[in-house]
Amino acid sequence: MSAVAAPDHISPDRIVEFDYLDDPRLAADIHDGLLALKTEAPGIFWTPANGGHWVVSDSDLISKILKTPALFSSKQLQIPPRDDAPRMIPESLDPPEHLLYRRLMMEYFERSRIAHLQARVDHWTDLVLSELKDKPGCEFVDAVASRLPIYVFMEFAGFPLDRAEDFRGLVEGMFRSTDPIKRQEYAMRIMGELQQVISAKMESPGEDILSKLIQADFQGRKLTFEELMSIGFLMFIAGLDTVTNAMTFGIRHMARDVDFRRKLTANPERVPEAVEELMRRYTFPTLPRQVTEDMEFGGVTMKAGDMVLCLIALVGIDEDLNPDALKVDLDRDKRTHFGFGTGGHTCLGRHLAKMELETLYRRWLEDFPDFEIDPTHAPATPRGGAVMGIPELWLRLNA
Ligand code: HEM
Repeated sequence: MSAVAAPDHISPDRIVEFDYLDDPRLAADIHDGLLALKTEAPGIFWTPANGGHWVVSDSDLISKILKTPALFSSKQLQIPPRDDAPRMIPESLDPPEHLLYRRLMMEYFERSRIAHLQARVDHWTDLVLSELKDKPGCEFVDAVASRLPIYVFMEFAGFPLDRAEDFRGLVEGMFRSTDPIKRQEYAMRIMGELQQVISAKMESPGEDILSKLIQADFQGRKLTFEELMSIGFLMFIAGLDTVTNAMTFGIRHMARDVDFRRKLTANPERVPEAVEELMRRYTFPTLPRQVTEDMEFGGVTMKAGDMVLCLIALVGIDEDLNPDALKVDLDRDKRTHFGFGTGGHTCLGRHLAKMELETLYRRWLEDFPDFEIDPTHAPATPRGGAVMGIPELWLRLNA
């Protein structure tokens, strides 16, 4: 993928081949592959892949990068960088502009403000799981993990629910296509749908977040149509595939770890801790930033414009931060992870995501206390990228 020669400021002992989109190390297991990379490469190194960029596996350095937007900007969130990358409010903004929008959006994502959605999340979860009740098995991503987040998102953002399956087709197309032209086509179609939804809400607002944002006062004015489109599209990008992958990693773990599953089934009040623990163990996004000025950082020389990729999956499985880090353990005294990011851009949707995950795990264990990986299907090759994931998970239910 568009490998380049190292520029002069890169020291040869810091060059390691790593293609975050499709690296052979990730082919069997993402987290094992990233741990192998951390062992063989310096905590910060440069890869010629994808236009050439820095890769950071050291937890301290990742934390500094994500908490220092003056030196590491969010304006460019694509690797390789794209000049025509759309502005994503608030994720691709830096302070002070970022905070203005984040403050406006924050209140609609607070736990108390989304509490009313619990009944709808229960409804959709029951509906999706009821379709599996008498089945001997399922492909979990298709049957559950790619469906639930869409229904919930449509409720949250006020999309017409009778179009749920159409939207699922578009979202699936965008996230699963490997062909960039096809992905772009799906993205444009989603934008078209979003345009219609926002226009309709401007005429007659409802109780959903987009309606609230349409009516909100922002710096003494209303948000423009372009700003609303940008926020709406980011929520699509940020709030669907992420939840799908978190559900898939979580359920895959439960299928493999009988002791953990039994403990959780016997103690459903501990599901919120399980969600946190599974997010720690299986953090899957990667976070890009762009260097704003020439500097020395973490023992290397960086130039303004360099791209940096933070492997946040490695923070949760860092032995120094979480002893016996690969073990999924409900009884940990403390957990450190950046599954929802850290610093100023920490995930706004985390309370909604946790509500979805907690509801799924609770209901799933009620319905399927014993289930296992279906050995007749070869495990799917994991997917790299900005949101790393497992594209397929075949399960035997009622084992
Ligand atoms: C398990 C599910 C999720 C995970 C793992 C996740 C992860 C993340 C991460 C790592 C970031 C930080 C990005 C950065 O620093 O550049 C982020 C930001 C964000 N997330 Fe999530 N997310 C999840 C679900 C959601 C949902 C359901 C929504 C909304 C419906 C959402 C909305 C956002 C928004 C708006 C931001 C940008 C915040 C800002 O820039 O200030 N996320 N998310």
